[in-house]
Amino acid sequence: MKVAVIGTGYVGLVAGACFADSGNEVVCVDHDPAKIASLKKGEIPIYEPGLEDLVSRALERRRITFTTETAEAVRSSEVVFLAVGTPSRSDGTPELRYLKAAVEQVARAMEEGKTGYRVLVNKSTVPVGSQQQVSDWASAATSQPFDVVSNPEFLKEGTAVDDFLKPDRVVIGTSSDRAYELMAQLYAPFVRQGNPILRMDAVSAELTKYACNAFLATRISFMNELSRVADAFGGDIEWIRKGMASDQRIGRHFLYAGVGYGGSCFPKDVSALVTQARSKGLSVGVVEAAEEANRTQRDYFVSLIEKAYPKGVSGLVFCIWGLAFKPNTDDMREAPAIPVIAALRAKGAKVRVFDPVAMEQARHWIAEGEDCRYSSSALEALEGADGLVLLTEWNEFRNPDWSEIKRLLKQPRIIDGRNIFDPALLKKHGFQYVGVGRR
Ligand SMILES: NC(=O)c1ccc[n+]([C@@H]2O[C@H](COP(=O)([O-])OP(=O)(O)OC[C@H]3O[C@@H](n4cnc5c(N)ncnc54)[C@H](O)[C@@H]3O)[C@@H](O)[C@H]2O)c1
Repeated sequence: MKVAVIGTGYVGLVAGACFADSGNEVVCVDHDPAKIASLKKGEIPIYEPGLEDLVSRALERRRITFTTETAEAVRSSEVVFLAVGTPSRSDGTPELRYLKAAVEQVARAMEEGKTGYRVLVNKSTVPVGSQQQVSDWASAATSQPFDVVSNPEFLKEGTAVDDFLKPDRVVIGTSSDRAYELMAQLYAPFVRQGNPILRMDAVSAELTKYACNAFLATRISFMNELSRVADAFGGDIEWIRKGMASDQRIGRHFLYAGVGYGGSCFPKDVSALVTQARSKGLSVGVVEAAEEANRTQRDYFVSLIEKAYPKGVSGLVFCIWGLAFKPNTDDMREAPAIPVIAALRAKGAKVRVFDPVAMEQARHWIAEGEDCRYSSSALEALEGADGLVLLTEWNEFRNPDWSEIKRLLKQPRIIDGRNIFDPALLKKHGFQYVGVGRR
């Protein structure tokens, strides 16, 4: 099938590459000429495991092309995915101007090219009612026939390729049989093992995406709140987590206490659900509380650092391991490292930061300066520091050489924002260990 993907970011590029890998002819469009120029050379502008191989294979087999020209892509493709960003506005509502611009470009191309029937697919996370909204925008610019389908994406950065190729489910929101048949054909290679394609109405599909992210964010916030209770009573959140996770009704995912959730999805989708419910006069108190708990968890974590230094953190130097909002990505959007480092700097501390892949991205979010230095290795960042603060649980940080760390640090203190280290082991090595909700 011939497929166009408008927006070649974390979602669009993965979707395009995976559709190409399953035999389709894919045109990926982005209005950023630099991004398209590097993609044409097989250079991947983001860090996502497995993606580079997939894209180079598709390029070799001539199944994927990259362009800045929406019209060219729409003329040749029956299915057009919209995968542009929908970031939060300052009031928490989703910013839809990229989506509107993309839809208008697509519709104009349909009109000019007299393309005939097209399926426009909302792959971006969009507010409830967007299927109708996209349909209205498109109708205003073209008289060519089309359907709009809601097909929210559930991939996780860091395992995006795998998630896309083996989705837990595919949600397709449409009342059109013709559009559904095309979508089902496109996704057939990814659901051969019985993982379902769930056909539903578009509003339910749109809400499903927000429901999933808000629910997962709520689980994390619940554990973060509980970690404070554990701290207050001298319990250990890791034991509590294990006790909960082995209950099959609860399950083991998204139960980790730490510095709070971040990334390009949870914070904005939680806010979007809250503001959309409010627009109907509803309050989603549980979700609002999850949002609030996430905000306060960062302050709580900074207070844990301060507690470890009774004379105050002003003038101290902290080594920060991990900047990306989670491991295996270079995505810095809403990374907890940003507010935590800002708070330490505001309190007069200095930081030396290191992340295995997000250093370049991080520079756009965390300004280098006299009180913030980017280090070239994890060990270099430790030299002479008053403590190690772990903010992202990259694998390479999990089992470090503790004797070397002890030698490099000025004060043997470890503040573990992801609870990945073993407090007993660190005690044995002579460190003072602070975790989140750890005994
Ligand atoms: N990142 C994730 O993990 C994830 C997961 C599920 C869903 N989503 C949703 O998918 C959508 C895209 O997210 P993302 O992380 O891929 O965003 P992104 O910012 O990485 O990519 C968006 C791309 O769209 C391009 N773009 C914007 N307007 C355009 C236009 N008119 N024509 C062509 N290109 C245009 C931008 O240049 C950018 O490259 C969002 O709605 C997001 O909420 C993201």
